[in-house]
Amino acid sequence: MYENYYGLTSKPFQLTPDPSFFFGSKWHKRAMSYLQYGLSQAEGFIVITGDIGTGKTTIANSLLNDMQEDIVAAQIVTPKLTPDELVKMVASKFNVPVKGSTKSDILNDLEAFLMDLHKQGKRALLLVDEAQNLPLETIEELRMLSNFQASGKPLLQSFLLGQEELQPILRAPNMEQFRQRIVASCHLAPLTDVECQAYIEYRMQHAGWDGKALFSAGAYDLIFQFTHGVPRKINTLVDRILLFGFLEELETLDEEAVENVIKEVSEEMFQPVKQAQTESQPKGILDGPTEEGQVKDVEYYKTMLTELVDALDNAISQKIKLTRYIDRLLQKKYKTYVRLKSDD
Ligand SMILES: Nc1ncnc2c1ncn2[C@@H]1O[C@H](COP(=O)(O)OP(=O)(O)O)[C@@H](O)[C@H]1O
Ligand SMILES: [Mg+2]
Repeated sequence: MYENYYGLTSKPFQLTPDPSFFFGSKWHKRAMSYLQYGLSQAEGFIVITGDIGTGKTTIANSLLNDMQEDIVAAQIVTPKLTPDELVKMVASKFNVPVKGSTKSDILNDLEAFLMDLHKQGKRALLLVDEAQNLPLETIEELRMLSNFQASGKPLLQSFLLGQEELQPILRAPNMEQFRQRIVASCHLAPLTDVECQAYIEYRMQHAGWDGKALFSAGAYDLIFQFTHGVPRKINTLVDRILLFGFLEELETLDEEAVENVIKEVSEEMFQPVKQAQTESQPKGILDGPTEEGQVKDVEYYKTMLTELVDALDNAISQKIKLTRYIDRLLQKKYKTYVRLKSDD
């Protein structure tokens, strides 16, 4: 919309993780090196964590973009997969047929596929994005998949990308075996103030900007303060600032312009609406969605409850499995007892 006004050839702050716009900040470069190091190891797990919008998916896409030809990669971004669903999904991402097959058939076919790749001198890489959503037992299943081996080398390597919640999951006491397979891990921090300015300039130049001073120093400071250097927030905010400048026909974008836009977008997105609430009359979440803040609260509690229900479901199905196992054990013991008795 505003591209012509600033002499740009494309939109500089799109929200899609486009590898051609990749900016190598200190942490992004570091994470990229970890991924490349991991690739060279050709085994185990590489874990990259970071807050929402810090650039995990962008890094993964950049990596996939300049991947060597001998690596066949598959990417999954799926919330809450059960172990069986994970096996199915991994197989179908590698084009191994899953329809009508049992889990053990799928595992056999997957192993045959990976073996085949290996014979062709290729190897497989699995990228799991948003991995903080995977239940523990699914991560464990992922570890089982890394057990497929040929001449002592695993046939499948995996990268896990996830928000910070992934860290406590991997720290859980029963994840020891998984932890032993982690070859490298890295946490993606937001950009520093200097990097934030360099990031904006880089994206602008990449979109055809001629480099003529556009943002004032104070504008850069304000952008950094508001976004804390999180690339996704920078993109959203600067996109709006450029739109504002175009609508107001500004030649330079200074603090005042940025302040105006911050005011607008705070109301729209980033800042949770503060509830006007006094201690003497606390409002419950069930008082009805009269204010935007309360609607958000209700959504929050709904999500929490759904997660709780999932967790309980899980616990119940584990209990059922255990009960069946004990049943079978008792029956076996009983048969042995009867046999011994009749031998007497
Ligand atoms: N290193 C980077 N270079 C260029 N753009 C980036 C970089 N990191 C993040 N971005 C931009 O920020 C936005 C959010 O990044 P994304 O990778 O989706 O974050 P995450 O997966 O961590 O939530 C994307 O629009 C992407 O273009
Ligand atoms: Mg992402």
